[in-house]
Amino acid sequence: MKDVLTIAMPKGRIFEEAAELLRKAGYKLPPEFDDSRKLIIDVAEENLRFILAKPMDVATYVEHGVADVGIAGKDVLLEEERDVYELLDLKISYCYLAVAGLPDTKMNEVAPRVATKYPNVAEAYFREQGEQVEIIKLNGSIELAPLIGLSDRIVDIVSTGRTLKENGLVEYERIVDVTSRLVVNPVSYRIKDAQIDDLVARLHEVVGV
Ligand code: PRP
Repeated sequence: MKDVLTIAMPKGRIFEEAAELLRKAGYKLPPEFDDSRKLIIDVAEENLRFILAKPMDVATYVEHGVADVGIAGKDVLLEEERDVYELLDLKISYCYLAVAGLPDTKMNEVAPRVATKYPNVAEAYFREQGEQVEIIKLNGSIELAPLIGLSDRIVDIVSTGRTLKENGLVEYERIVDVTSRLVVNPVSYRIKDAQIDDLVARLHEVVGV
């Protein structure tokens, strides 16, 4: 009898695409998977247990080994620097991290402020540019910050670009492209290597090169 493999899934936007990918890879996922408030879903016939986490927390569950593998955005992996291995670029949920702000404005020269959900990424980016900024950590609706004078710039995810456009903001620099990745706990990878290799191979086939 094989061990159960625990997979941490990101709740929200990425979830649907991630579930579709698993189904394409041949995993039989029950209908409750798509439409439930349950946070733990066992799929006994596939020997899988899914935990449904906030996207920002997926790598945390994997790092602590309570999930063997997880599906996490590259944005989260860059921000959190968790001790997990990245096994596969799933090429879903494409978006990018960018610096944005009100059009035709310069950053305040004395104490420029940058609002973001990604303080580590933003800090590293501006340090590389040789600019010292004050980072203001927010948890969402980041675009609000420059509109009401909380910050000069934001560092945030751009997907369709609609949020920036509808709020009269423009993109200044693109920082890094983001897609979802399959990550694994290093110890799980040693213990459950056959199951994890099988998952990777099946997903790899669907994702392509
Ligand atoms: C994300 C991101 C942007 C928006 C970008 O926010 O932080 O605000 O999506 O998408 P777009 O380019 O397609 O408009 P999300 O809706 O996930 O919520 P949040 O503001 O609470 O982070």
